[in-house]
Amino acid sequence: MTIGRDVELAVRLLRQGGVVAFPTETVYGLGARADSTQAVRRIFEIKQRPATHPLIVHIRSAAEVSHFAVSISVEAEALMAAFWPGPLTLVFRRQPWVLLQVTGGLETVALRVPNHPVAQALLEELNLGVAAPSANRFTEVSPTRSEHVEKDLGQEVDYILDGGPSLVGIESTIVDVSGPTVAVLRPGAVTQEQLETVLNRPVPVLVSNAAVRVPGQHPLHYAPRAEVVLLNASTLTDEAVALSSRGVRVGVLFNGIATRGFPSSVVVYEVRGGTEGLARELYHALRQLDDAGVDVILACAPELGGLGVAVNDRLAKAAGPRA
Ligand code: TXA
Ligand code: MG
Repeated sequence: MTIGRDVELAVRLLRQGGVVAFPTETVYGLGARADSTQAVRRIFEIKQRPATHPLIVHIRSAAEVSHFAVSISVEAEALMAAFWPGPLTLVFRRQPWVLLQVTGGLETVALRVPNHPVAQALLEELNLGVAAPSANRFTEVSPTRSEHVEKDLGQEVDYILDGGPSLVGIESTIVDVSGPTVAVLRPGAVTQEQLETVLNRPVPVLVSNAAVRVPGQHPLHYAPRAEVVLLNASTLTDEAVALSSRGVRVGVLFNGIATRGFPSSVVVYEVRGGTEGLARELYHALRQLDDAGVDVILACAPELGGLGVAVNDRLAKAAGPRA
């Protein structure tokens, strides 16, 4: 069996150059030691990810940053102090030794200290940086449970370290601190408002643009197999009825807005706990609805502001254009 809770085994495998999936508070990562070309190459092979897409290096604590990064700004220090360990990735200028394979050829490196006891035990014991993207195949939905990883990549990874369901549920906020302007490259659970409060100045959220490599902004990211349609709560039931009557198999991702009158053929996945609950359950819900065989997933976007920005971003990606 490749799945279990054996941190010692995971450490041994990583040290030997293996690829190990591990839990974090955001999503599960597909890890390899960041200083090994061969080990990192296997991540790209398993994920079927283009080599130009850089990986996040997971570290034990802020004390490790200077091993990987140079020119660490006062603002970066403030963000680390405020949000690490936690769902914040910071992009720094890299140390010359950091593999270009990890950085996707960039002069910068993304670092994160995860806030998950199993990830922390792993990094503590290993005492090496772990390069890890989310443990899903390129463009598919990120895994928030070890079963998701097992289903997607169970044949290819050396071990899946189980740490229960991820409590945040969507990928980390990515903030560029490598240049003069601190900016959000990917929204996440650490919000723009929180960043601005700590830095006491505006922190822009960069919008994707073909000329700039903004992470996680590939238009096919986070997409389930079924088509995702975002609707207002007021039109959800009507749309479900209309589609069902045409023979379309409909799934509804429903987050607490009064639901009545769905045809019995509609598969309803109910999420509780407001926007936080929706973030936590989003990828599991999309996977469950896919597994139920629906053609279309109808969902209501939460209100913008706070965590709603990141959840909307992921829902919009899931609903975005297909190849
Ligand atoms: O929450 C997370 O961030 C999860 C967990 C496992 O830590 N990881 C994750 O990794 O979402 P991944 O590879 O799916 O997304 C990481 C994003 C990529 O879109 C990549 O483009 C961006 O981070 N990234 C990595 N290094 C970067 C760099 N030097 N400059 C800009 N973006 C970078
Ligand atoms: Mg990913």
